Amino acid sequence: MNQKQHKLAVLVSGSGTLLEHMATEHLPINLVIAEKPCRGLEVAKSAKYQTELLPRTNFGWDNSRKWSDQPRFDRAKFSIALADILNNRGITITAMAGFMTILSPIFFETYRGTLLNIHPALLPKYKGERAVADALEAGETVTGTTIHIATEELDAGPIVEQAEVPVLPEDTVATLHERIKQTERPLYAQVLAEILTGERQLPSQ
Ligand code: GRF
Repeated sequence: MNQKQHKLAVLVSGSGTLLEHMATEHLPINLVIAEKPCRGLEVAKSAKYQTELLPRTNFGWDNSRKWSDQPRFDRAKFSIALADILNNRGITITAMAGFMTILSPIFFETYRGTLLNIHPALLPKYKGERAVADALEAGETVTGTTIHIATEELDAGPIVEQAEVPVLPEDTVATLHERIKQTERPLYAQVLAEILTGERQLPSQ
């Protein structure tokens, strides 16, 4: 650990396989937060990490509507509640690992520069939730993954690390996404470990 003694939180809302790999690497994670009950939360509990469930349905999220169509969701209140949890736990670095809620600008007033995201494409290409399908449909022969600082603008913050992944002729979205995740799992765990030890500095904002 460096002088700063970072405290790491990981945010999940899906299958949690990136988190699972972090656990097998014994990454010191102080807190795992999920926005809904999901496998990622169970992975965290099995790994004996501290967990919090912050259900976005408590803030007007409607599970029967599309991800992009949530008129009743109070994004700002959800973002403030998340920031409060991180503040109360003294978290200094937060890593989204398949976390599917876009945070309000108000979140970044406190967390500018210390929220990381991993995105399954070579940004700035293919932002958004259809990144893998978009790369496949565009006929790319190489795609990849990007670890970046999250900002108010979706999938657009400063890049921390990238890695290429080949697209095979027989790929489906599922096979390509799984191949990307095989690269993401060790890469994200390694980058986070380097940040925690101070070997890697985050880009300044
Ligand atoms: C990863 O592909 C990551 O790039 C994206 O969400 C996926 C998370 O996978 N943001 P999992 O839930 O850890 O299996």
